[in-house]
This record gives sequence, C-alpha cells and structure tokens, in this order.
Amino acid sequence: PTPVVIDTDPGIDDALAIMLAFASPELDVRAVTTVGGNTGLANTTENALRLLHLLDRDDVPVAAGADVPLVRRDSRADETTHGVDGFGGVQLPAAPRGADPRGAVQLLVDAVEASDRPVTIIALGPLTNVAALIAARPDVAARLERIVLMGGGARVLGNMTPASEFNIWFDPEAAARVFAAGIPITMVGLDVTHQALTAPGDWDPLRADDAGPVARAVLGMVDYYTQYHLARVGTDSTAQHDSLAVAVAIRPDLVTTRAVHVDVEYVGTLTRGMTVVDLDGVGGLAPTADVALQVDADAFNALLISRVAELDRS
Ligand code: BDR
Ligand code: CA
Repeated sequence: PTPVVIDTDPGIDDALAIMLAFASPELDVRAVTTVGGNTGLANTTENALRLLHLLDRDDVPVAAGADVPLVRRDSRADETTHGVDGFGGVQLPAAPRGADPRGAVQLLVDAVEASDRPVTIIALGPLTNVAALIAARPDVAARLERIVLMGGGARVLGNMTPASEFNIWFDPEAAARVFAAGIPITMVGLDVTHQALTAPGDWDPLRADDAGPVARAVLGMVDYYTQYHLARVGTDSTAQHDSLAVAVAIRPDLVTTRAVHVDVEYVGTLTRGMTVVDLDGVGGLAPTADVALQVDADAFNALLISRVAELDRS
C-alpha cells in the first residue's frame, strides 16, 4: 500500500474522505494532521481524534497544525456549511487520547523520515501546514512522493467567490508556495468534484434498521450536508470533494489529468484565492501540477459508498 499522511480540516466531506482512506487496502495511513478551515483548529483536531476512535484507529497519530492562515489571518469559514462543530451536529463518542504533542509539521517530518518508501500527502483543507513543512524542512518535502490535494478549479470556478475555491481562498499565500515548491502535485478541483455528485439515495446501502455506528455517523453528516445544499443551491445532490482526492490517491485512473502550470492569485481584489491554470500552455512555463479535468463519476461513487459501507463490518 501507498504510505500516506492526511492533512485535513474535518469537516463533513473530510470525515467521509478519511473513512474512505481507512477502508482502503491500497493506502497505509501513517498519520493525520489537522488545520483550521471548515471550523477552528480545536474543533478540527477533536473531530479527527473522535473519527479515528470511531474507526478503531486510535493507533494512528493525530497532530494539530495551523489554526490561521500564513499571512492574512482573518479568513473564516461560513459556519453553516459544516455546522459550528464541523460535523453538522453529529456527536461522536469522545476519544481516549489527545493530540500528539509533536504538532503537525514535526509529525509530517517524522512520518516521512520513518517511511521506507516516499510518502504521499493527501491535503483536504487549506494548505497552511503543507506550506509550513516546505518552509521548515525543504529537504523532507523534497522526499515526498506527491501531494494529492483538493482545491481550486482548472477553469475559473469558485464556491467562496466566483473565482476561488474554499481551501485555496482560505490561505492563498500557502497554496502559492505549495504549487511553486517543485513537488509532484495532483490537483483535484471543483471541475471534477462537481462532476461527481452524490444523491441521498446513493447512500441507501448504509440505511438499515441495524445500521452500525459508522453508517449512522455517515447518514447524519450526509443529511446535514444535503439540507445545506438544498437551502443554498436548491439541489439535494452533494459534491464529496475531499473523498474524490482520496479516491484519486487510491485509483489515479478515476480522473484524466493534464500536466500544466498552476499559480495562485493572492493579490487580486476580485480573484484572491483563484488557481490560475494554464490549460493551453500560453504562458510557456513548466508544468507544476497534474490537474484533474474529467472523472468517472459512477466509479467514484461506487468506490466511496461500497468501501464506507464495509467499515461497520470490519
Ligand atoms: C473544500 O472546502 C471545504 O468546505 C471542504 O471540506 C473541501 O475540502 C471544498 O471547496
Ligand atoms: Ca476539507
């Protein structure tokens, strides 16, 4: 299996993504690092710890990273998207442990140094921790196999502003540094996550009178997320953004990608947080990322739901 560290801000779709990762024999999740984003760092860390406890994976270290972005420290999530607690009010049992005292950057360093093979970072939140790793230990960052990240859009697409996606918008200075670092990157942006919507009925395999604790948590979170989407965009289908990034780490063939130059705009008044993706190579600069353009939506949904459904049985 591919050794991975998941950097995340759980977050409803982060939670499902983490479940998919732990349900997948193709991945060996060595650590989880948390970042402020969908909700504050205290919540995202507590949520990660509780989620791993639910999955009976208290053996995997969880460390807290950055609460606020690198430069402009005033980014805030809209607390209706994932609820004030980040899990849409779904209460998970308390974990028997706290966060690893090493903190996110040191845990990332240790995970890379302890691994016999290059580690992949799956980044599901703002890129503050990843940028901090690159700044603190460029030698360690250079040993990464790849960063698979959920963020941005290949074409101009946004969910925070017309031009910016949440994870990039939240800390664009960090994102710019990550894309410029020379590390292989797969960018899973809104172009593809919006092609792979999940309908409430898709989760029917988890609905049973004797549904286990993982299925109940999933259904509660999906229900909250569905209601939010109904109120905000008028459709009950939801994009499981972060799960698609994990799915691409499991099965790269789920998406078609193009190697292109990507920059992040952090100055523009209308476009701060936009990924500037040179799809046609007009800038003549070397590619910095493999950007996902098309996804096999049916295969993705089948993978996500069947694997998550297995968790209560394992
Ligand atoms: C991203 O923003 C967050 O709300 C989600 O967890 C996902 O990582 C989608 O734009
Ligand atoms: Ca996320």
